[in-house]
Amino acid sequence: METSMEASRSSAPRLISSDRPRLVLSDEERDAILEEISHYENPRAASIEALKIVQKHRGWVPDEAILPIAELLGIPGSDVEGVATFYSQIFRQPVGRHVIRLCDSMTCYINGHETFLDVIKRELGIAPGQTTPDKRFTLIPVCCLGNCDKGPAFMVDEDTYGQVEANDLMRVLEAYE
Ligand code: FES
Repeated sequence: METSMEASRSSAPRLISSDRPRLVLSDEERDAILEEISHYENPRAASIEALKIVQKHRGWVPDEAILPIAELLGIPGSDVEGVATFYSQIFRQPVGRHVIRLCDSMTCYINGHETFLDVIKRELGIAPGQTTPDKRFTLIPVCCLGNCDKGPAFMVDEDTYGQVEANDLMRVLEAYE
């Protein structure tokens, strides 16, 4: 297991000081964020999209990106940090090429979550919050995906799955190189 990360939802928002290290957003990132902001009366509404833009370019959202994003939005860094922490789609540490989000809320837990987890641990050698050594997959536990009647529900990147037997799980994952 090469990488260990806390699930976003379990992290409390951190205080952001103005002397926190910051990175320089690329022109492409800045232009895309400003374009997104232009669609809203209140720039704050573009927070999640701004974070997604940075993640699209870098694969994840480093701490150092929070203040530059906040400055473009014209809101406090702590507000952007709060959004980044709340949404499980925003990765705060490097992830693999594909992210498996496995629902561990009550209905899916009862319907076989642990069995799925065992398959992933056995076949990929990773536990929740970890990335395979070849950086192919990262496993993240998430709350209800709204697919409770088809659980255990999971997503791979943007694809949502349900009604998959544990025996077929690896067949599903094989499609993601
Ligand atoms: S409890 Fe898993 S999708 Fe709702």
